[in-house]
Amino acid sequence: MSLHDGAASVSLRATREARAVMKPARLSEHSEANNKMLDGDRAVHNWYRFVLSFPPHLVRTYLWRFRAGRTHTVLDPFCGAGTTIVECKKLGIRAVGIEAHLMSHFAAEAKVDWNPRCNGLLRHAPKIATAAKTQLRREGLAETGMAAQQAVLSGRRKLKTLPPGEMKLLLKNSISPLPLHRALVLLKHMRNAPGKKYKGHELLAFAKIIVSSASNLHFVPEVGVRSPKADAEVVAPWFAEARAHARAESDVCVKEAVPA
Ligand SMILES: C[S@@+](CC[C@H](N)C(=O)[O-])C[C@H]1O[C@@H](n2cnc3c(N)ncnc32)[C@H](O)[C@@H]1O
Repeated sequence: MSLHDGAASVSLRATREARAVMKPARLSEHSEANNKMLDGDRAVHNWYRFVLSFPPHLVRTYLWRFRAGRTHTVLDPFCGAGTTIVECKKLGIRAVGIEAHLMSHFAAEAKVDWNPRCNGLLRHAPKIATAAKTQLRREGLAETGMAAQQAVLSGRRKLKTLPPGEMKLLLKNSISPLPLHRALVLLKHMRNAPGKKYKGHELLAFAKIIVSSASNLHFVPEVGVRSPKADAEVVAPWFAEARAHARAESDVCVKEAVPA
């Protein structure tokens, strides 16, 4: 069945009461803006996206055309980082996603984990950030100022790195030594932190900032490596991202969120 078959011909006919999706604003047919995420859609969707993820408003348009509602269950058998299932959950429509790629699966799973515990995350993440910052400061590798770069250039500081087998999995120069060191320090403190409740959110925030700002990767849309940065912050943007999860959760958390 094609998505263009028309709502009337498919079995997803909902009663008026059960319909969960508002009629979407009409977008011009061939505008590039159609492929971009709308500002109002950023909560949750923006926790982790691929360049080629389709925009949430497109999912909404099809849900509306199919008359999908609260009495239905949507199946996305190739759900990627979860655009469809997240949008369904936001709209109160049950959804099931299947995804083979481990990273995409992890992202989608964390993005539909909305247990109302935003305040807990807001207490947990600062402890990790403080422990990581304290260690970096003690090592002379604080994220602010030039001292870290000078310490590395002078050879006074040996940086952590990945074992050779794991290093080989990374694209060459995709992350510079100083940000990699900071990432490994942060990861250690995340792993050592007591309680596993927030792990999914904290790891997804980590993945997002590593790919989007701490690394030398860029997407055009194919993945590539730009000239290596001498340095990049890791702990500060990670903490900002973890806080954004908590804030988005408090926006979308509803007592009886539908399962996804
Ligand atoms: C185009 S992406 C989906 C993107 C998603 N709709 C979004 O906007 O985030 C297609 C996904 O299908 C997954 N995939 C491909 N073959 C699969 C299979 N046999 N079983 C499960 N997932 C598969 C890929 O890993 C990829 O993430």
